[in-house]
Amino acid sequence: MSPIEQYKAGTNFISAAKMNYTHYFLKQLTGWTLHPNTGIQGKKSVRIADMGSQTAVWAIDVAEDQSFEADVHAFDISNKFFPPTPWLPPNVTLHRQDICSKFPSTLLETFDVVHFRLFIMLDEENIRSMVKSAISLLKPGGYIQWIEHDKTGLKPITASKDQDTSAVEALIELEKNPFPNYNFRWINSIAPVMAAEGLDVVVEERIETRASLLTQMHELHLIALLDIPRGMSETVDTFKANYFDDLASDNAKGIASVDNFKIIIARKPM
Ligand SMILES: C[S@@+](CC[C@H](N)C(=O)[O-])C[C@H]1O[C@@H](n2cnc3c(N)ncnc32)[C@H](O)[C@@H]1O
Repeated sequence: MSPIEQYKAGTNFISAAKMNYTHYFLKQLTGWTLHPNTGIQGKKSVRIADMGSQTAVWAIDVAEDQSFEADVHAFDISNKFFPPTPWLPPNVTLHRQDICSKFPSTLLETFDVVHFRLFIMLDEENIRSMVKSAISLLKPGGYIQWIEHDKTGLKPITASKDQDTSAVEALIELEKNPFPNYNFRWINSIAPVMAAEGLDVVVEERIETRASLLTQMHELHLIALLDIPRGMSETVDTFKANYFDDLASDNAKGIASVDNFKIIIARKPM
């Protein structure tokens, strides 16, 4: 398995904790689990598909939302991080499924919303097959919600004047190129691919991490570094040897990076 394949698959409980923490971080940052423009307002019952669920934290959160009755189906190619079935809410069903391949015919055109979040390394062909799968699952008029880390405008920030941002600047460079053949700009292809596949893109927006969440975001970067075991990437090993301790102490000093997230909502025509 290539380093990026190992990283994508997740390693241990640190990978799970990172995704679960990211979920609560994003919920606090955006104020929602399902974007208000996903057609759920006023609906009593909603069928939802969560693609690449990993720990199913998003699926479980949306299933426990008291404002509508949800029937949530979560799909992942691996069940490594699935919670035990007896611990799931009754309205969540987990499936092992490659989301780039055909889905069982009984599921087709049965969902109101299809959700994608945080896929680290894709190319336009992966995006196209994932969008095609979503279209096949959606009822006419249903919505896709897709959220990704947007690394195009990363910048250092300090709480006081004249603080040293060298470790954070090095982190920003690493984030843009953590693995061979990684191109952080792939997220800019999501909306154009959706439009080319006949969907109406109704939201394409960027949310910047606000000051009150910078410390949490910095902690997430540190956890993400811990989630890359020694030997998986020489670049990351060297980076950690040079900067991890400085980055850890930066957190207490008020030195961080400002990260962005991209949100895309698209509707399948009636
Ligand atoms: C970084 S995790 C994101 C987890 C989740 N979406 C979240 O935001 O909490 C990416 C997940 O996508 C899954 N995945 C990647 N490619 C996939 C594929 N072709 N089919 C199904 N799952 C896939 C991985 O197994 C992993 O669990």
